Amino acid sequence: MDRLTFPDSFAWGASTAAYQIEGGWDADGKGLNIWDTFTHQGGDRVFKNQTGDVACGSYTLWEEDLKCIKQLGLTHYRFSLSWSRLLPDGTTGFINQKGVDYYNKLIDSLLAMNVIPLVTLCHFDTPQALEDQGGWNSEKTAEVFEQYAKFCYSTFGDRVKLWITINEPYVFAKLGYENGIFAPGKKEPGFGAYRSAHNMIKAHAKAWHAYNTFFKEKQKGLVSIALDSDWAEPLDPNSVDDKDACDRYHKFRLHWFANPIFVDGDYPAIMKLKISRKSKAEGLTTSRLPEFSDEEKNMIKGTADFFCLNYYTTRNVRPLSIKQSGPSFDSDMGAEGIKDPDWIESGVEWLAVVPWGLRKLLAYIKDTFGDPNIYITENGFAQSDPPVLQDTHRWGYFQETLAEVLKAIRQDEVKVKGYFAWSLLDNFEWNSGYGVRFGLFHVDFNQSNLPRTPYFSAIEYAKVVKGNELIYK
Ligand code: BGC
Repeated sequence: MDRLTFPDSFAWGASTAAYQIEGGWDADGKGLNIWDTFTHQGGDRVFKNQTGDVACGSYTLWEEDLKCIKQLGLTHYRFSLSWSRLLPDGTTGFINQKGVDYYNKLIDSLLAMNVIPLVTLCHFDTPQALEDQGGWNSEKTAEVFEQYAKFCYSTFGDRVKLWITINEPYVFAKLGYENGIFAPGKKEPGFGAYRSAHNMIKAHAKAWHAYNTFFKEKQKGLVSIALDSDWAEPLDPNSVDDKDACDRYHKFRLHWFANPIFVDGDYPAIMKLKISRKSKAEGLTTSRLPEFSDEEKNMIKGTADFFCLNYYTTRNVRPLSIKQSGPSFDSDMGAEGIKDPDWIESGVEWLAVVPWGLRKLLAYIKDTFGDPNIYITENGFAQSDPPVLQDTHRWGYFQETLAEVLKAIRQDEVKVKGYFAWSLLDNFEWNSGYGVRFGLFHVDFNQSNLPRTPYFSAIEYAKVVKGNELIYK
């Protein structure tokens, strides 16, 4: 039996996102967002055509969430603001005071419990009114986002000191604007992901500068962006082609955002080269990957005060084997990730349980992006529906993962400052609806009061948080 202690003042958290838990989709003047529209369109876009209309009901049951947070003894709670609840049409032209009141209550109550809020400004739920004007395909959205960010800093920044601008721009851009399986459901392969991500990066950078210029001195907070990444291993460690594919896999996902923001303001060279070559061969006069001007590069470089990593899984990588017709992100990257048959699968098909991948990824981020302070802002393991309360298997995955985090801290000297489990509650898992359960707390969606019950994992996680140590057999 090992007793493994975490560093003093390690941040222990759990994460959620507004659309996934709040419900109250049209309550008290909230404007529509792209997930309201997407789920209401039906057509099996989402498992059983489920919606986040009610979800965990956190808009009214937020005190129940606080009880869960208290039971876990968390030091931090990550949640997101619903942009269209605060600004129904996305702009500061009209402010929905009821939305402001809701988040004020939540923030004040967290602080009264000594829980530090880590607040995400946009977790996949763009206001529909902005989407109607092009959404993230339009540069204008980056400017409107900057205004929204300023509004949030000035409204909540006296109490919120840790900010994330955008959650997982890779997933948001690729699933929302490239293959259309997430809202807003745009299918523009080879163009959409690059164009929307380009505007997200600019939006993030503008929001960071707005804080730095107008708020930082007084509010003394930090601003970052949450980047998701798999760890990638070459399928055959002796194959040069697989190693190159692995490199591209990282460059087209993590570096796509981390390179501009943490390194030099620009996309990775290999991305620029691959996409411009292919674009030329397709008869286009400019690359499908938009370019940043020198001024924009200077504006983007260095716009994160810490590194937020969302890690779920690992892939064995090789060159793309299926030839795709027409342009696409995947054929530009020219790599594909495969699950090792020996890896255990959690309750959702894509999530193979690979705790050691997180350690490798943490060391990679340390070495590649200037040894930043890192918060693991999401990590978790789903159960399929129906779930079991006695989820000992899941707690085993958490234990193994936390042991790897400790190795990263102690042996690899990675500056990991906190760990946030995904998720506090079972919730609306995007296109998988309520069929996939990531919660530390079970939510009974069949009962109108949506009761929360701790899984075994919650009880054990609370012990880790309390002792700031992992007792691991
Ligand atoms: C997202 C969460 C999501 C989780 C599990 C992340 O991509 O940020 O909203 O629920 O992964 O799929």
